[in-house]
Amino acid sequence: MTCFRINGREVSVDADDDTPLLWVIRDDIGLTGTKFGCGIGMCGACTVHVGGRATRSCSTRLADVEGAEVTTIEGLDPAGQHPVQKAWVGLQVPQCGYCQSGQIMQAVALINDFPAPSDADIDNVMAGNLCRCMTYVRIRAAIKAAAADMKGGATHV
Ligand code: FES
Ligand code: FES
Repeated sequence: MTCFRINGREVSVDADDDTPLLWVIRDDIGLTGTKFGCGIGMCGACTVHVGGRATRSCSTRLADVEGAEVTTIEGLDPAGQHPVQKAWVGLQVPQCGYCQSGQIMQAVALINDFPAPSDADIDNVMAGNLCRCMTYVRIRAAIKAAAADMKGGATHV
């Protein structure tokens, strides 16, 4: 049995230690906002936060989150009103949407590390989050808008 917290609640999961955290989140806990893309840590679709850090859940063993705090897209804000989510809606970032929960989780971590991110910061940190619909220009604009919002400043897009 592996015990950890997810989106603020305690869970105990009876699965093999090597089970990918992504499967546990989706199949055992039933939170399907986190997506499977490549399964090998190369696309970012499965990004969640573990201890506040952006983490590829497809490449994280269940045993490695024992006692950890995990946050998924469902737990980012109870009403879906995190500044990054609001910027994503405001700038209509998604196209098919499949990659976007991973993009948002990575973007939140990025802004935590770089409160006023430059284009280079964004390109460097977001490089591992792929979007087959090529929404990269809107993602960059939304990150800048969210960062400005979180600082209480004007929103420049
Ligand atoms: S599914 Fe995890 S990085 Fe692609
Ligand atoms: S919005 Fe379609 S893959 Fe990114």
